[in-house]
Amino acid sequence: MKKIVLGVCSSIACYKILDLIGSLKSRYDLEVIATEGTLKLVEQEEFEKVLGKEIHINVFEKGWDASKYRSEKWMRHIELADSADLFVIAPATANVIAKLSNGFADDLLSTSVLATKAPVLVCPAMNVNMWEHPIVQANVGRLKDSGYLIVEPDEGMLACGWEGKGRLADLMFIEKEIDSVFSSMDRLNGKNVLVTAGATIEEIDPIRYLTNKSSGKMGIAIAEVARGMGAEVTLIRGKTEVDAHGVKDIEISSVSELSDAITEHISEMDIVIHAAAVSDFFVKGKSEVKIKSGSDLALELSPTTKILEKLRDLNSSMVLVGFKAEHDVMDEVLKERATDLLRSARADFIVANDVGKKVVFGSDDISVMVVGKDGATVDFSGSKREVAKLLLNHLL
Ligand SMILES: Cc1cc2nc3c(=O)[nH]c(=O)nc-3n(C[C@H](O)[C@H](O)[C@H](O)COP(=O)(O)O)c2cc1C
Repeated sequence: MKKIVLGVCSSIACYKILDLIGSLKSRYDLEVIATEGTLKLVEQEEFEKVLGKEIHINVFEKGWDASKYRSEKWMRHIELADSADLFVIAPATANVIAKLSNGFADDLLSTSVLATKAPVLVCPAMNVNMWEHPIVQANVGRLKDSGYLIVEPDEGMLACGWEGKGRLADLMFIEKEIDSVFSSMDRLNGKNVLVTAGATIEEIDPIRYLTNKSSGKMGIAIAEVARGMGAEVTLIRGKTEVDAHGVKDIEISSVSELSDAITEHISEMDIVIHAAAVSDFFVKGKSEVKIKSGSDLALELSPTTKILEKLRDLNSSMVLVGFKAEHDVMDEVLKERATDLLRSARADFIVANDVGKKVVFGSDDISVMVVGKDGATVDFSGSKREVAKLLLNHLL
């Protein structure tokens, strides 16, 4: 049985979690951590009656015995962190979101979450003005960037009398999200997945270079989601705006370094997703010394290698996925160009997106059209993490 550690915080919605506990405990091995404030809103005994066992509250349990720690090296927060297959925080207060996004560890819940390697699903609930506060939104954004899964609150009448976004998401929806994390968790078990991400850099001289506006967020989201689904992930990363968490990361700079890194690893891969934004040109006759400023300068550019089109020769059995960015074109043109690339690269899928019309480079959301070998297309939109999840499930 998979184990869930459920953290409950002192939102007015915390009484609803009694029903969630009742429902989850029949299907999952469940441990509950309540913050001290929570127990001012719902009695400890009420949680324990529904759960059928003791809940956890403090890092240092009642009647803390230091000799137990010394002899057995027993620490409740590490035991909870290590034993969890999934952490769920519902309801998550503005306070706990702030603590987690800043790495605080001043109670049992925040300390255990910081120590866990399991995925973390956060279900916020709070007053609409708290939810919309830029600091809360920035904190939620930081959690998303660190790979936390967020179940957005619902809109409606709030217990505090205000109306707007902030209600704890419907319990059935939260349960479905929990089930979906588990069902995708092992889907890539035993698979080697190579992902390339970010922009390449072509030097003009030792301090100046040509690059592009790619943030690398899409490729990094794919790498992190693939890891969450059980894959052994190798990420080859150019210039990116965000870091990757929990994946093997090889840094490259130029197109030729990217090509060399892929060539070194590709033979052992089951799936290769080439999402890096590769420079189309390099500077012919790059200067070894800083070019003097103050007068006109003409750069001569030559086309770089089309990496995607060389990969099939290096591994005939892998699932090969390429990306194609176009700028402000009709959907039919996007599909046509993706199909041409799919054929010339002998790829299995091309993920095409228009970086002019719908989504700009660097944004957290994306709309893509995935074109398959059979000519079928499917459109995905949402946060880059959501699209990464949809894409990986589509490949499978
Ligand atoms: C009746 C009541 C309801 C509250 N509801 C919420 C809420 O829905 N969301 C929230 O972020 N804080 C809420 N608070 C404020 C938190 O309880 C407070 O920020 C507390 O410090 C959070 O501690 P915790 O995160 O350790 O549980 C509420 C407070 C009270 C007294």
